[in-house]
Amino acid sequence: MTLLEPKTIGAPVARLDGRAKVTGAAPYAFEHLVDGPAYLHPIQSTIARGQVAAIDVSPARAVDGVLDVLTVFDAPKLADTSDGELSILQDDRIYFRGQIIGGVVAETAEIARHAAGLVHVMYTEESHDVELTVDHPGLYTPEQVNPSYPSDTDEGDVDAALASAEVTVDQTYSTPIEHNNPMEPHACIAMWTTRNERTSVTLYDSTQGVHAVRKALAPVFGLEPDQVRVIAPHVGGGFGSKGRPHAHNVLALLAAQRSGGRPVKLALTRQQMFSLVGYRTPTIQRIRLGAQRDGTLTALAHEVVEQTATVTEFAEQTAVTSRKMYAAPNRRTAHKLAALDVPVPFWFRAPGECPGTFAAEVAMDELAVACGVDPIELRVRNDPEVDPETGNPWSGRHLVECLRLGAERFGWESRDPRPAQHLSGDWCVGLGVASATYPAMQMPGNTARITYAAEGRYLVQIGAADIGTGTWTTLTQIAADALGCDVAAVELQIGDSALPDASVAGGSSGINSWGRAIVAAARQFRRDHGDPPAVGATTVAEAPENPDAEKFTMQSFGAHFVEAMVNRDTGEIRVPRMLGVFSIGRAINARTLRSQLIGGMTMGLSMALHEESVRDPRFGHVVTQDFATYHISAHADVPDIDAIWLDEVDEHTNPMGSRGAGEIGIVGSAAAVVNAVYHATGVRVRDLPVTLDKVLAGLP
Ligand code: MOS
Repeated sequence: MTLLEPKTIGAPVARLDGRAKVTGAAPYAFEHLVDGPAYLHPIQSTIARGQVAAIDVSPARAVDGVLDVLTVFDAPKLADTSDGELSILQDDRIYFRGQIIGGVVAETAEIARHAAGLVHVMYTEESHDVELTVDHPGLYTPEQVNPSYPSDTDEGDVDAALASAEVTVDQTYSTPIEHNNPMEPHACIAMWTTRNERTSVTLYDSTQGVHAVRKALAPVFGLEPDQVRVIAPHVGGGFGSKGRPHAHNVLALLAAQRSGGRPVKLALTRQQMFSLVGYRTPTIQRIRLGAQRDGTLTALAHEVVEQTATVTEFAEQTAVTSRKMYAAPNRRTAHKLAALDVPVPFWFRAPGECPGTFAAEVAMDELAVACGVDPIELRVRNDPEVDPETGNPWSGRHLVECLRLGAERFGWESRDPRPAQHLSGDWCVGLGVASATYPAMQMPGNTARITYAAEGRYLVQIGAADIGTGTWTTLTQIAADALGCDVAAVELQIGDSALPDASVAGGSSGINSWGRAIVAAARQFRRDHGDPPAVGATTVAEAPENPDAEKFTMQSFGAHFVEAMVNRDTGEIRVPRMLGVFSIGRAINARTLRSQLIGGMTMGLSMALHEESVRDPRFGHVVTQDFATYHISAHADVPDIDAIWLDEVDEHTNPMGSRGAGEIGIVGSAAAVVNAVYHATGVRVRDLPVTLDKVLAGLP
């Protein structure tokens, strides 16, 4: 791999889109200026399973300003109904509470919402099942887990190794349903025009991937990809929930199909997002560790029970980090799903790696206690030379350095190894640690175009996404270094499916995938056109395959350090200090990287202490569907948080030498909080979130 000579890569370049954002000039999906828009409000099922028997739309139609009402009985037909989540209004079946069964189109959003409330729906109700239990009778093994890992792995003889181990841990950990709440709710504007018998569709969408949306939606409507254009220059957060289109996009397009050419605008309410845009499956994870007295692992079993939906399967890859994190000769991982009458779970902030690492890293803390070994030392002792799953060498495994550097910076040395030893006033104080890892994924299907647009001006085009992560800035930096010019000489265009193909901003793969295409295009551009090129010179190039991908295991790593304080009378928990030390290859932009990492760490804190969606099993809906009841960590929760990273270049991942840093910040973060709470109090909470009642129950 020929690496780029970094000039602006690594620098803390301020966000190039920052001014447009703070002045309000950056348009988000709902804000694009379109002519004469109509407004759409969904009608949602209020039962969890059954059929729509009848719908009386007349009270809604009678409202002044109502333009159209769509229902399961009269909506346009879809061409492809194979995707259960997207296939709405095609029949009267109800698969979960909150499912879209209609929509009202009106002159204003307020009229649409009001009229939607007047629609009267009669149901044929069937009994539903929305509760995941560890012994659910419907549990089955999925064919694979997200995105395409084997469900189960089994190496060596786990049972024998556990039976003969000197020290064992056998515990069950659980995480609740969690809902993504990006600052910008899911929203879109759908435009459907037919001229000379040719249909063309434009969708302004809040999405993590314009091409991914086009690819998913075009066949649903029987259109060719080039008949659909998806535009998303700015996105106010996604965290996985905008990684694919959801049913509301289909509803907007169905409505636009019969609006006579009027653009149709739809912005989901915060409450609607709790049933329409995915969520993290709850998990029940049994972890068994077998070790020698000194903490050397001999066996590791990580068995996960989680849920999916009857309407579409989504299988979270919760146990996969246990295949790679530590050396253990006997290893088993397994996933089992129950398909319930619930909305489809989907990507949620490092799906798989995040909840799985929570359980595994708390279990490692328990093993450290059981062996009387320092938790950092325990992890160092089990650090594998090569990828334990494949036997491949690592492209750069520096977990031990992260742990050691973090220990030094955080003041680990003065930590008393025994729990519940340190009181500060009425507060029990403790320190916790946890490891993190996340794969350096490269997605296929990336192409970039570079044009010498004017003297000293390069136009760089790729349909990438900036979901708040900093893509506008980082891709400009990469292009500048690849072309050997200043950042100011590069004009980047992203967020439009009319631009060259780009993969979704998911799995922390964006820079690795798009950046590689830009570098390939820049190099080809120079070969084609020299320096200086003629104005108008242009080159299109595809990201090449990475020949090292088969030979090396490429993962980012990290170590989390947390100080927790627990009030000994009330059980109140505070986290005054968090530090993350990461190994992510070369940093592209020190400023946006730090934001990504501390953002992820804060989400981990949020997961540890606050976030929990409560589904009412009697009615099947999430009752905590607003910010009064669904709690999220905010600035005041993390007075002293910092993320640092190793000075490092990965020579095997891509020409930038980077590995991906979007999601690793959240991986392991919650475990470090739980481990710190244990160290402070001696109370081990294995069921997230760690609320004060659970801590109080264990305090003396
Ligand atoms: Mo990320 S949750 O893989 O979009």
